[in-house]
Parts: sequence; structure tokens; C-alpha cells
Amino acid sequence: MNSLLIKNGLIIHADGQREENILIQNETIAAVGTELEYSSETQIIDASGKWIFPGVIDPHTHMGIPIKTGSSADTFATGSRSALHGGVTTILDFTVLEKRQSLVNSLEARKKLAGKSLCDVGLHINITRFTPEILEEIPRLISMGFSSFKVFTTYKEAGMMLSYDEIEAVARIVGAHDGVLMVHSEDNNVISAASEPFADRSKTDPRYHGLSRPPEAEAVAVRKLGEISERTTCTIYIVHLNTAAGLAETAKYPLLKVETCPHYLLLTEEVYKKEGGRMFVSSPPLRQKTDQEALWRGIQNGQIHTIGSDHCPFCLADKQAGLPFQEIPNGMGGVETLFSTLLAQFLQRGLDLSLLSRLTSRNAAEIFGLEQKGTLKAGTHADLLIVNPKSLSTVQDEALDTILDWNAYTGLPAIFPETVIRRGEMVVSEGRTQVSSLGLLLKSV
Ligand code: URP
Ligand code: ZN
Ligand code: ZN
Repeated sequence: MNSLLIKNGLIIHADGQREENILIQNETIAAVGTELEYSSETQIIDASGKWIFPGVIDPHTHMGIPIKTGSSADTFATGSRSALHGGVTTILDFTVLEKRQSLVNSLEARKKLAGKSLCDVGLHINITRFTPEILEEIPRLISMGFSSFKVFTTYKEAGMMLSYDEIEAVARIVGAHDGVLMVHSEDNNVISAASEPFADRSKTDPRYHGLSRPPEAEAVAVRKLGEISERTTCTIYIVHLNTAAGLAETAKYPLLKVETCPHYLLLTEEVYKKEGGRMFVSSPPLRQKTDQEALWRGIQNGQIHTIGSDHCPFCLADKQAGLPFQEIPNGMGGVETLFSTLLAQFLQRGLDLSLLSRLTSRNAAEIFGLEQKGTLKAGTHADLLIVNPKSLSTVQDEALDTILDWNAYTGLPAIFPETVIRRGEMVVSEGRTQVSSLGLLLKSV
């Protein structure tokens, strides 16, 4: 049996911070406390002066998803390696529903790709087509342990949108079986109206991306989804919330869970004006400083529950200069810098580190039913990070463990974990990644 004791660290639990020891046996935490018994064979890490966080759960990634002109630039293998280097020990990604494919078959196909992941991985089930057969599959998927589903209120031209009535029918079934419905929440009518003046495809400036997807689109969609959550009693999880107006709507509906992303907390639409501003195009777009500050307030007052990276990276060549703004592939990477940049921000803003622990781990585990994740206690998976609070630096491209040639966060303050342990295996040591086993495919039951 492999036995590891991490002693004298300050554990950043969801409910407070305590100096305790953690005893790990194989993949699992055997005990947490001040007086632990261990054998002479036990390997010991002295974490005096260090912080210990639960392994980060990134509830929103898109590894290698197909787009019109190819696919997002990280595979499960490459993206999960970056994830581990940044302290993310679990990612939750999405299935891709092909034409005429069943949900179960889309899951089986995606599982094969996700099997290459080095961090643990769960899959949300994308529902981008509405038929009686698809609805019938939902209870079966939940009984198989896949209880989170995702729909879109836009992307009509890409054939991914469901109408609000269709979303309500899905929510009714998901809610009745205690699942969670995730929604990309931008109202398609608002977007169509705002996009009309630029329909001729002559505009290349990324600022038009923001103009064509105004904050109002989020507010309208969130309101309608809030009403659906009330009528169906289904928990609805709003992905990548990004506006003050959208946040204000979420406050009215207690069954809504809210995710935001590091790009909305750390960047604003000002970056579209930069040379290479097109690289920052993702949907929904980046917003104004006032939106950003509203999101930080939402974080502090508990209105926002999780932070997901929406990791959907593209390389420089994928977003060539001169493309009409509508044809710039949407998405940015962020899984590797998710935790380190947020930790630096939390310190700068004087925020409670237990709040960070909840937002980056515990809350996602609770919402998505990952009982063995998110809390450092006996019986859970031994996923944790050891962080040296004195190692504040900035994001440097050459220090990342990535295949990507562009990063949105370069130069921003960051504190990367020194050590990352994923199910008992030390996968990052002194900031270097070395992984000898694959991640586990997670289920919610
Ligand atoms: O632009 C983005 N975020 N692409 C990924 C798909 C989505 O809508 O989250
Ligand atoms: Zn989305
Ligand atoms: Zn996404």
C-alpha cells in the first residue's frame, strides 16, 4: 500500500482554514487531523508554511470539440496535462451530439476520447436536437450516472438551439429525475436583431462580436430560464454568466446555479482593441469593467457558485487576421491558469480563501453529485494542491505545460501550485508535471 502524509499545512477547507495533517493511502484520504497514526513506510511531505487546497474541479471544458473549420486545439490528452499543471484534477467536459445519433451513442463516442485524459473527467450530455426519442433517453442516462445535460438558447444556424418551450420540456424530465440542466444563456432573438447591421460579413474588427451579442441577450435568456426553473422545479445551471444585467436576473430565481469564468473576471472588452484582439473572441463576449465588478460582487455575496474555464482554445493560425468577425473561431484556453490567476486576485482583493475553495471545488462537486471530490476528508479521493503563498509571480508562456501558442492571461499575477496530487499520485512536483496513470471517468451516482 502506498502511504503519504502531508503534515503541517494550512488546509483551505470550504468552511474554514485549519492547520492539519492529511494521511493518504493509495488513491484515497485515510484521515485528516492533528494527531494521525502512520507507519514507518509512510512518505512524508512537510507542508509547513504552505496552503493546501482541494483539487480544482473545472466544470466547463471543451477538449477537441468539432467546429466548422476543424476542432478546438487541445485534445483530452494535452488539455488534461495543462489542467493538472494548473491544479485542476477534475474536468467536466461535454458530449457532442451528431446528426441522427442517440444521446447514449454520443456518450459512448465521447467516452473513448475522454479515456485519454490524465486528470479525472466527467461528461455533461449535450442536447442539441429535440425529438421524443431524445427525451426518452434522459432518465436512462441519469440512471447510468450521467445526470447533467446542456442546452443552448442560441447557435440556431449551427443547428444547436432549442426553443424555450423545448428547454422547458427537457427541464421537466431532468428535474423529475433529480438531474441538472445547464444552459448557454444568450437569447437568440436579441442576438439576431443586434447582428443585423453587420450581416454583410465585411467587418473584421472583433469589437463587432461584442456589439452583436449585447448584455441584454443574457438578461432575457436568464429571466426565461429562471421562470422555467420555477415551473419545472428543475435546477438550472447558467454557464459562463458574464453581465451585471444577467446576474441581477439570477438573484430572483432560487433554483438557478450560476457559473462565471476567469475571462469575465480578469479581462474586459478593452482587449478587442489590442493588436491580435481577435484571439480574445469567445462567446459570450468580454464585457465592461462595470460588469466585471458586478461579477466580483456576485462572488462575494454568494450569487455565483462556480468558476469554470470554458476552456476552448485555438492557436494563432486558427484565428487568422482578416476573417469576418462572424467566422473567427469562438473560444479561448484557460484551464491551466484558472486557479493560479484567481488565487492571486483573491489575495489582491483580500477575499476569503475558503470562498475560493468553494468556488473552484466544493460547489461543483455538490452540484454535479461528485461525492468523492471537492472536500478533503477521510474516504474521498486524494486530490489536492500544495501552494507556497510566497510564490506570487506572473503567467509566463514558457512556464506553462501546454501545446498552445497563445494565452489570454500572459503577464497577469498568478500563484501556481508547487505540488499537485491526483487520486494519491503526485502528478506535479516542484511545478513539473509527471503523470504515470490515466484519469478516471466519473459518474454522479
Ligand atoms: O466561445 C466559446 N466559449 N466556445 C465554446 C462553446 C460555448 O459556447 O461555451
Ligand atoms: Zn457556451
Ligand atoms: Zn463552453
